[in-house]
Amino acid sequence: AMEQEDAIRQELGSLHGIPLFKSFIEGWPQVKAFQARPDDLLISTYPKSGTTWLSEIMDMIYHDGDVEKCRRDAIYNRVPFLEMKVPKDQSGIEQLENIPSPRLVKTHLPVQLLPSSFWEKDCKIIYMARNPKDVVISYYYFHHMAKIHPDPGTKAEFLENFMAGKVAYGSWYDHVRGWWEKKQEKMLYLFYEDMKKDPRREVQKILHFLGKELAEETVERILHHTSFQEMKKNPAANYETILPTMMDHSISPFLRKGISGDWKNHFTVAQNERFDQHYQEHMAGSDLHFQME
Ligand code: PPS
Repeated sequence: AMEQEDAIRQELGSLHGIPLFKSFIEGWPQVKAFQARPDDLLISTYPKSGTTWLSEIMDMIYHDGDVEKCRRDAIYNRVPFLEMKVPKDQSGIEQLENIPSPRLVKTHLPVQLLPSSFWEKDCKIIYMARNPKDVVISYYYFHHMAKIHPDPGTKAEFLENFMAGKVAYGSWYDHVRGWWEKKQEKMLYLFYEDMKKDPRREVQKILHFLGKELAEETVERILHHTSFQEMKKNPAANYETILPTMMDHSISPFLRKGISGDWKNHFTVAQNERFDQHYQEHMAGSDLHFQME
């Protein structure tokens, strides 16, 4: 069996043309064959787009705002990561087999790789997207702290790789556009920036999508418990229970800044111009729009 060290700082492999961790690719046959249940709810995102935030909100909604119940386990166990597989750990698939319905499922897969069973069972899906400038900065810091990723190189190099889609999960453009084009009745497409601006309105959208009603004070409690400050100090939400050989929070915490527009502290004027140009080209013809702050 592979040792856990073998999942550290390895080059990415390729899964149907999408760059991905080799250990995840090894587990792909089980993921492809995954049997979704009709009451599974899928939380889908490109990495660093608010997955954990949305996951905590969803678990709180599923538990009627019971903070203690949502401390029962770490977020990565409460909402298993579908395609996750590292040596010596339960895979996402194994975790999912062991939790009762209704299950919340996390994935970063591009839409074309989603196991077909989610479509066949007509599962509800919530996709959350975040503007690419903040995603790339968040992803850069995450590469430093989460050792499953290859070395990110300099910020300038990482920016180039990101734009070229040469990072885990591939092109951000293809990801957000691919899921946007699949948007249908059973899919809610949300934006990180909207969640930052008016979390109450976004939570109401989710409740409406679920056909669920909650008392005003419950919504209030959910908003408080899922704020950046609360999640940052919550060991069940901040990933600090992951082995330090896999994630080193002293390099950069998982809940790093939690704001929109942090890219302005990192992009040079030239990088920003180049990025804007590239963005225009790759979003051309789409009615999908992003707020960059
Ligand atoms: S992952 O590893 O892909 O699942 O990461 P993901 O959870 O998608 O993204 C992590 C970024 O989301 C920020 N975050 C939050 N922002 C605002 N409010 C809350 N409650 C919150 N929780 C997580 C987190 O800080 C990462 O963004 P950056 O910009 O790096 O701070």
